[in-house]
Amino acid sequence: MSHQTAPDPTRRGTRIAHIGVAVPSLDEILPFYRDVLGMPETPLDDADGARIAGLVVGESLVELLEAATPESPIGKYVAKRGPGIHHICFNVDDLDGALARCRAAGIRLIDETPRIGAEGKRIAFLHPSATAGVLIELSEY
Ligand code: CO
Repeated sequence: MSHQTAPDPTRRGTRIAHIGVAVPSLDEILPFYRDVLGMPETPLDDADGARIAGLVVGESLVELLEAATPESPIGKYVAKRGPGIHHICFNVDDLDGALARCRAAGIRLIDETPRIGAEGKRIAFLHPSATAGVLIELSEY
């Protein structure tokens, strides 16, 4: 018989913070998520040369990312790969600890030290070459 223990209420645990979707035009796609699928919009700051629209999906967000300039990371991404899912962001309890564990495991980091992301939280990106092709963003609660 397995024996389950109650979750520790002081530990929030890893969960999906948001899914970043690279889009050619916020104005064109936003009505689909907001009006057709009925996801409430939440204001987010621009970040990394992208205009961002946030949509609430339970405890997570969809972030629609439109390049402000062709030279921005999203601009280059869309030019090379076309629109689509750009990254997944996981909330972690302790970003510094998570980055230290990544470093110890030999995971290549894009951000060696945390910086402030679109939601005003401390974030860091891991390199997709180290994560089976998925661009992963870690965000602290
Ligand atoms: Co993100």
